[in-house]
Amino acid sequence: MNKTFGQNDPEIFDYVYDLLNLEDKVLEDIKLRSDKAGLPPIQVGAADARHLEILARSVGAKKIVEIGTLGGYSGVCLARALPQNGKLFTFEYEPHHAAVATESFRRADLTNKVQIYVGEALKNLTQIESEGPFDLVFIDADKVNYPAYGAWALRNLRMGGLLMADNTFAWGHIAEKTLSGTAEENQSVEALRDFNKMIAQGKAFRTTMLPTGEGLTLAVKVNEP
Ligand code: SAH
Ligand code: DHB
Ligand code: MG
Repeated sequence: MNKTFGQNDPEIFDYVYDLLNLEDKVLEDIKLRSDKAGLPPIQVGAADARHLEILARSVGAKKIVEIGTLGGYSGVCLARALPQNGKLFTFEYEPHHAAVATESFRRADLTNKVQIYVGEALKNLTQIESEGPFDLVFIDADKVNYPAYGAWALRNLRMGGLLMADNTFAWGHIAEKTLSGTAEENQSVEALRDFNKMIAQGKAFRTTMLPTGEGLTLAVKVNEP
């Protein structure tokens, strides 16, 4: 499954995919093993994964926090951006997902740069606060907690640090006048709206949204809370 990229034109996606060699053997293998292990196929798209790596390199990130590890697809891309002594702290609720990710980081030769925390992210994040401030926080887990994750990021990013959040178009529902999903789906959309508003309209961040298939919010911390 390839998420959209560039005017929704699959020819352009294929062109970019080949030109940039977006998916090497390591990333391909993560998708295959994740599928086999029964993980949901909801990792970021191949182009988005490259965006994450390039953005992490651009801010010279040495300490990165990822909320929502899944099988390690986005995590490998983030960790590839790290220098020798850099660290990715990644948070995953499901032990089974974390086990697949552990193997992904091992195969990518990134084990020494990555620490996976298994359990409720909001609870486990407190464990790493003393290692902060962080250069980059990537939010990609349960949508109802995005506002809480955003608040954590604000407190724990350095000035000039980068917040990135996936799915901020809420599967196309973000701007919908009347929500017609299940109660649970609507709650996720509302939470993403709260998150977007808080990140875009507060004083702490200068913010943009990349029009990826899923919507990728990018925000630089410009003021202390
Ligand atoms: N970033 C990954 C995809 C993450 S999918 C990638 O692109 O490769 C979302 C993940 O968040 C799932 O693995 C899910 O189990 C996890 N998750 C859901 N609720 C969570 C919580 N409260 N704490 C930590 N992880 C959670
Ligand atoms: C879904 C997609 C995501 O990128 C994610 O982080 C969570 C869920 C989905 O399509 O259900
Ligand atoms: Mg996502």
